[in-house]
Amino acid sequence: MNDRFDLEPIEKASVDELRGLQLKRLKQTLAHAYANSPVYRKKFDEARVHPEDCRSLEDLAKFPFTTKKDLRDNYPFGMFAVPREKCVRIHASSGTTGKPTVVGYTKNDIDTWATVMARSIRASGAMPGDLVHVSYGYGLFTGGLGAHYGAERLGLTVVPFGGGQTERQVQLITDFRPDIIMVTPSYMLAIAEEFERQGLDPRQTSLRVGIFGAEPWTNDMRMAIEQRMNMDAVDIYGLSEVMGPGVANECIETKDGPTVWEDHFYPEIVDPETGRPVKDGELGELVFTSLTKEALPIIRYRTRDLTRLLPGTARTMRRMEKITGRSDDMMIVRGVNVFPTQIEELILKRPELAPHYVCILTRDGALDELTVAVEVRADGDPESDAAKGAAAQLAHEVKAYIGSSARIELRASGGVERSLGKAKRVIDKRKL
Ligand code: DLL
Repeated sequence: MNDRFDLEPIEKASVDELRGLQLKRLKQTLAHAYANSPVYRKKFDEARVHPEDCRSLEDLAKFPFTTKKDLRDNYPFGMFAVPREKCVRIHASSGTTGKPTVVGYTKNDIDTWATVMARSIRASGAMPGDLVHVSYGYGLFTGGLGAHYGAERLGLTVVPFGGGQTERQVQLITDFRPDIIMVTPSYMLAIAEEFERQGLDPRQTSLRVGIFGAEPWTNDMRMAIEQRMNMDAVDIYGLSEVMGPGVANECIETKDGPTVWEDHFYPEIVDPETGRPVKDGELGELVFTSLTKEALPIIRYRTRDLTRLLPGTARTMRRMEKITGRSDDMMIVRGVNVFPTQIEELILKRPELAPHYVCILTRDGALDELTVAVEVRADGDPESDAAKGAAAQLAHEVKAYIGSSARIELRASGGVERSLGKAKRVIDKRKL
């Protein structure tokens, strides 16, 4: 057996070769969407564009955006470009309100997804013979099955644990000795805590690599997890509307933001206000067009994720900067824009505090109030002078670096609810 996996040829292709392939696939996708999805035909006609108007990659900007609302309005299968019987799988993401967003996959789509997921796991540092523990949820959520098919495609051994049952997660990680864990970063912390609660040292596990995603997490959180678990922590990005996990993945040798698998997903960054594309390197909203999907071709999907596109490093394909936040999670506190990840960075600087936190928004008369509920370390006491000093320092830094006043509410270890999947970082009580 080799001690490494080989890259796919396209991962080593030149930029020109890649752009050529993208244009060819983009034309095919636009033609397929127009011919087979009545929703896209109507959208294109209304915008007075035709697939033949696309002669260069820049021409994509002439085409209309797709939003979550389009998927909701055509619930459940109305946007599919193949008869439902051609789909071998359906997934759905539960929205905070109303109907879920439903997506479908043909046999070829599942095959493509497994390919990009295998590529992602390989980029994360997987080696032939590795055992992979999957703690992303299985079911309608794309995390579990996406990870599962990718790991199987690479020929690795998969333990399909799913989310929850934290005590048993620890038992199986101890007994089966996995090399890789795939899980949300917030749930990784809950598992690490459970190791410690059982008197086990999480630095002594067999785990070598963690492939973390499905929610925003900072580079400081990366360092905290790497330290605590003695492993490499790598970022995986994706969303159900575009495919699921594996749209982009970090390369372990650089850990400098996820490489977008551009041969299947064409990225753009647009100004969230005007919708106009901005140049590579500029911050804006990430927009994706699928290049090979059959069941649900997606044209210029507005992800609401904020980031910038960066030149390739470990691969020729471009990278995206680690996501700082979703426009949905952005809190506007007395006119100041605040992202939970900004608070996370500051919390991680204080050794007295644990990275379990939630931001609570309330309204006092006409004024917004931001409260950050954060835990002290497992052995800490929220009433101690050290903890109170850390809270005062945190409040000061939130004001100094982010520009917003915040009340810090210290809680004992376990005082902030643990999530088994995506962490909920904002509770907005102003809307109630
Ligand atoms: O979360 C797919 C996924 C599963 C990705 C497992 C990675 C690992 P959705 O439930 O549709 O799909 O949620 C997609 O989650 O638009 C981002 O806001 C957020 N997100 C996903 N990955 C990351 C990441 C899955 N690495 C939404 N960093 C996306 C920051 C992420 N945010």
